[in-house]
Amino acid sequence: MKNILLGVSGGIAAYKSANIISKLKKKGYNVRVIMTKNATEIITPLTLETLARDRVVVDMWEKKYNYDVEHISLADWADLILVAPTTLNIIGKIANGIADDMLTTVISASKAPVYFALAMNVNMYENPILIENITKLKKFGYNFIESDEGFLACNVNAKGRLKDEEEIVKIVENHFTKENFLIGKKILITAGPTEERLDPIRFLSNHSTGKMGYAIAKKCVEFGAEVILISGPTNLENQNNIETIRVKSALEMYDECLKHFSKIDIFISTAAVADYRPKVTSDKKIKKSEGNLIIELERNPDILLEMSKLKEHQKLIGFCAESENLIENAMGKLKRKNLDFIVANSVEYFSKDNNKVFIISKDESIKELEEMPKEYLAEFIVKSIVK
Ligand SMILES: Cc1cc2nc3c(=O)[nH]c(=O)nc-3n(C[C@H](O)[C@H](O)[C@H](O)COP(=O)(O)O)c2cc1C
Repeated sequence: MKNILLGVSGGIAAYKSANIISKLKKKGYNVRVIMTKNATEIITPLTLETLARDRVVVDMWEKKYNYDVEHISLADWADLILVAPTTLNIIGKIANGIADDMLTTVISASKAPVYFALAMNVNMYENPILIENITKLKKFGYNFIESDEGFLACNVNAKGRLKDEEEIVKIVENHFTKENFLIGKKILITAGPTEERLDPIRFLSNHSTGKMGYAIAKKCVEFGAEVILISGPTNLENQNNIETIRVKSALEMYDECLKHFSKIDIFISTAAVADYRPKVTSDKKIKKSEGNLIIELERNPDILLEMSKLKEHQKLIGFCAESENLIENAMGKLKRKNLDFIVANSVEYFSKDNNKVFIISKDESIKELEEMPKEYLAEFIVKSIVK
């Protein structure tokens, strides 16, 4: 079984490392632990030692009766180094070649892949020096497990919380099955229908459930990505590891896409955005009267097309549902909107649990997938289009 070297640094989430060790051991990994001196103020080595069933290393100068140079032997022993939690301080040191304790020395001396699971106060998390150090380390191949949003020890609800221990362990497992191909990628996904308001109680919308987009968002996170999900009105619940922004209308969805587009690597548009909205909306309920009511509709922005005009390094993936000439229409959209892939399905699957799709890529190759539940399909789609 693989050898995991767990580094624990002095963040308040250090207590969660006990759970990580226990989960890794249950999966059969060999686990050795290095703590920074500061981490021992938060959780005792004894706790981690008991769970790891091995001596926890803190001090580089500790007298031992075996003459291995321990920082080198640990660096060589590791198949993977996971630092959880990782402090701002550790990132600063590694990014600048500082190796002044056991943990930073072992990381610097090892050729094993390193995963830093970040956890800190939100202002520290947004500190431009940290951001620059992370960018630098990513270039050298270091991997980052971004924090979740949630209630922090400093009494605010914000980004900075250590990712759920179960998910950290999943990322370790995925590493060995080569499934972490989206680590470090930021993905923006739109999902669900939009509602175009007519009056306080009426709107125009469609039958989209949002299931396909939510399933894709979940898969992208499992493969290591950081996901922002912009969701129209659906019955689906937010997931705590996906930043979900709820909107109603196409214009609101468009504004949110504009806000985030420059920061992302991949845009996946699964939302069934209304092409038109009522030209005039009424603040009061529209009363019935004799004769017909004519509602004039005006065009909504084509979000995918607008994003394609802003495209720099981003990959763009569109979805389309058609009632006829599926492949021909999808191919037309792929070209017109300068997409990297389009996923085409017939409208008959629109509000169903299953879907059957064709994936068409920029080079016009077509891949037909079997009909299957949307949550399984999400994995095939993500693997085919982003791998
Ligand atoms: C109670 C407490 C909690 C802390 N939590 C964090 C944290 O979550 N993330 C972080 O980067 N620093 C945190 N710090 C600051 C670090 O402990 C400090 O930067 C220290 O120098 C880190 O040392 P190390 O990286 O060698 O473990 C905390 C400090 C205290 C006193």
